[in-house]
Amino acid sequence: MAIKYKFPEGFWWGSATSATQIEGASREDGKGINIWDYWYEQEPNRFFDGIGPEKTSDFYHRYKEDIQLMKETGHNSFRFSISWSRLIPGGTGKVNEKAVDFYNRVIDELIQNGIEPFVNLFHFDMPMELQKIGGWENRKVIDSYASYAKICFETFGDRVKKWFTFNEPIVPVEGGYLYDFHYPNVVDFQRAVQVAYHTVLAHAKAVQVFRKTNIKDGKIGIILNLTPSYPRSQHPADVKAANIADLFFNRSFLDPAVKGVYPAELVELLKTYSFLPKTEEGDLKLIRENTVDLLGVNYYQPRRVKAKENLPNPYAPFMPERFFDDYEMPGRKMNRHRGWEIYEKGIYDLLINLKENYGNIECYISENGIGVEGEEKFRNEEGMIEDDYRIEFIREHLKWLHKAIREGVNVKGYHMWTFMDNWSWTNAYKNRYGFVSVNLDKDCERTIKKSGYWFKQVAEQNGF
Ligand code: NOJ
Repeated sequence: MAIKYKFPEGFWWGSATSATQIEGASREDGKGINIWDYWYEQEPNRFFDGIGPEKTSDFYHRYKEDIQLMKETGHNSFRFSISWSRLIPGGTGKVNEKAVDFYNRVIDELIQNGIEPFVNLFHFDMPMELQKIGGWENRKVIDSYASYAKICFETFGDRVKKWFTFNEPIVPVEGGYLYDFHYPNVVDFQRAVQVAYHTVLAHAKAVQVFRKTNIKDGKIGIILNLTPSYPRSQHPADVKAANIADLFFNRSFLDPAVKGVYPAELVELLKTYSFLPKTEEGDLKLIRENTVDLLGVNYYQPRRVKAKENLPNPYAPFMPERFFDDYEMPGRKMNRHRGWEIYEKGIYDLLINLKENYGNIECYISENGIGVEGEEKFRNEEGMIEDDYRIEFIREHLKWLHKAIREGVNVKGYHMWTFMDNWSWTNAYKNRYGFVSVNLDKDCERTIKKSGYWFKQVAEQNGF
């Protein structure tokens, strides 16, 4: 069959995961605990079906089998994260040699199987010892993170060439300090701003350390969940609302990471409401001098907003939503399982924005996918889950991605979220996202879904 959507030579095809979501073995071989292990112990009922992070999909023991499945699903690349609390149980100080050994084995196995490792250093998993002293609220944690990053670069940089400092750094800010879905689950805008600011500094510091480590052919970036922000109408009040949402949720990390500066409008806004973070001399220089080589973009859904209809309650906690209301556009296509809108063109719009306003930075789609409940009912007689909806979801996004590439956007790859069904934080195993299903009742037995076979073809033909 003729290939209509052909991707550039050397395109990266694969999927993304994170340590806490797939490794399991959360108390094995000297791993220290992180905020998820701790929070689950405190409040198990917060987690769907009471399932916690201790086992998850058991990648820790089954990585070899999994890497074979990656091959069978056409991966030429794979993103995973290093668990900080596995590598350095106390967050700072002594390195756990068993963790070094584990990540060495994973990296070697990937490379031997022709799969390029993309490594992320922080995926929502603050070591508990550091959270006890305030986590990202405490400036000291920036140095602990930089030392951890240095150890990773020095230990694995001979083989790992694609590095990422953070995955979706805004999510722990939103979840932990605004909307109550991550530990320490408080609602406090001022603390949220400080956490976001320290995360940007930690990121810049890790980039600085990376440059000094001088990894041959190495590149470093950050992974951001960019949600294009669409106004209800072109009315100036709606446009302004969309612009403010964009400043908070996209540009607060995108601008410092890629351009080395904070958007002046954001600074102005925080100043007006007296929410500027505490800073120190040299901070802005550090940010300015340590911009990224590449950007990972996670895209699931757009954000639609409208101007506020009512004046904000002056007694309610200060929130970003003080400046806009969510807009439920009539007729929008929804993934009803997750409650997220499906808007394929969003991937194109955000990439064109990167081309036009961010120097056409080298980027790749680092996550995109669809979470669905009750996939077992799609299992056929041969035991394969027929997830045609996932194939359609990916294919339609790839079409827009292809168009963006044709128009000159500098995209080098596509990673689907995710390789195998995994533990999705407080949603645990509620929604399934994988190319490979994981049967929790049968000792995490894996079977490739229809989408996995479809993806293999796409990857091997470099198009569809
Ligand atoms: C983004 C996050 O990086 C990942 O951890 C999460 O499970 C997926 N989105 C799906 O919600």
